[in-house]
Amino acid sequence: MPTLTDRFGRVHDYLRISVTDRCNLRCLYCMPEEGMEFTESENLLSYDQIVEVVEAGAELGISKLRITGGEPLIRPGLDGLIKRLSAIPGIRDIALTTNGVFLAKQAEALRAAGLNRVNISLDTLDPARFRFIARSGDLKRVMEGIEAAAAVGFDPIKLNCVLLKEVNEDEIASFLKLAYEQPLHVRFIEYMPIGHADENWKKHYLPLSRVLEVAEKEGYDINRGPNVHGNGPSDDWQMEGGRGSFGLIHPISDHFCSNCNRLRLTADGSIKPCLYWVDELNVKDAFGNPDAMKQLLFRAMDIKPENHEMAAKLADGALSHVPTERRMSQIGG
Ligand code: GTP
Ligand code: 5AD
Ligand code: SF4
Repeated sequence: MPTLTDRFGRVHDYLRISVTDRCNLRCLYCMPEEGMEFTESENLLSYDQIVEVVEAGAELGISKLRITGGEPLIRPGLDGLIKRLSAIPGIRDIALTTNGVFLAKQAEALRAAGLNRVNISLDTLDPARFRFIARSGDLKRVMEGIEAAAAVGFDPIKLNCVLLKEVNEDEIASFLKLAYEQPLHVRFIEYMPIGHADENWKKHYLPLSRVLEVAEKEGYDINRGPNVHGNGPSDDWQMEGGRGSFGLIHPISDHFCSNCNRLRLTADGSIKPCLYWVDELNVKDAFGNPDAMKQLLFRAMDIKPENHEMAAKLADGALSHVPTERRMSQIGG
C-alpha cells in the first residue's frame, strides 16, 4: 500500500478532523471574547464529504482519527458520523477532543457509535477562574462530562490543561494531585500563539519546565514514559504509586516536529499539512473522484514544512505571531 510519507521521511497515519469552527466557550488562548465570524453551515463539509476524505486517506495508511472543533459536540449527529468512520476499513482508533460541557449527555451514544477515546479540556479546578479563562460556561458541567466519560468506559481519559502564567500556574500541584489520586492522564500544554498577534500570549506564556519543578517540590517520584495510548506529541510521565499520570506538550520550548505524523482537515474543507503554516489545499474539487482525493493528500506531503521554527523566531522578536491566518478554534488544535 502506498503511504503518506513527506519529503522528510515522516509517515502520516493520523488525521484530525474539525467538524465545526463554532464553540460555546471563548477561551482566552483560543478565541477573542467577542467571538468571530463562523463558517456558515452550508459551507461546512457534510458528513458524507468527511467520510469521502477519510476513505481516500485510509487507503493511504490513515488509521487514526481525532474529531475536533471549535467544539465538536455542537454539531448535531456526531455519533452518526463516528459510526460511519469506524466502519471504514483500516480505521482503528477514533478519538475526540472536547471542552466537555456537552459530554455528559452524549457520552453513551458516542461510545456506542465506536468512539475509542476522549481528551477533555480542563484548565482550572476553580469555578470562578473557569469563567475567567473560558469567559462562559460552567465548570460543573465539565466535571460531569468527565465523570460520564469514565462511567461509560472511555479509557484513557486525558485532561488538557493549557498553562497560563499568572492565571493557573498556582494549580500545577492540584492537577498533579488529581493525576495521582484518580485514573486520569493530565496533560500540561504550552500556550501557542496562533493566527493572530496575541498580546495574551506575551503575558501568559509559561514553559513547562515549571511542571517538573513543582512535581519535585511536592515530593512525587516521577519517571518518563511509557507513553499513554495516543497519537499526539505528549511526553508522558508516571508518578510512583499514582493511579493516573501526566504528560507535557511543549511546542514552544522544545518542538516535536521531527516526529509529526498528522494532517488536519478543517471544517470548511482544507487539508492543513502543518498547524502553523498558511499553506492549505482545498478538498472540494476532489469530491466524487477518489484518485483526485488521493493525489491531493500526496500533494499535502510535498508542501509540508520540516518544522515551524517558531520558538527561535518568537524569541528573537522576528515574529509576533504564527503565520497562519486561522485561529486555533478554526483548526481544532
Ligand atoms: P492523543 O492522540 O491523545 O495523543 O491526542 P493529541 O494530544 O494529539 O490531541 P489533543 O487534541 O488533545 O491535543 C492536545 C494539544 O496538543 C493541543 O493543544 C493541540 O493543539 C496540541 N497539538 C496536537 N498536535 C499538534 C501538532 O502537530 N503541533 C503542535 N504544535 N501542537 C499540537
Ligand atoms: N495553545 C495551546 N493549546 C491550545 N488549545 C487551544 N488553543 C490553544 C493554544 N493557543 C488546546 C485546547 C484543547 C486543544 C484542542 O487545544 O485546550 O484542549
Ligand atoms: Fe472553544 Fe476549545 Fe477554543 Fe476553548 S479552546 S474556545 S473550548 S475551541
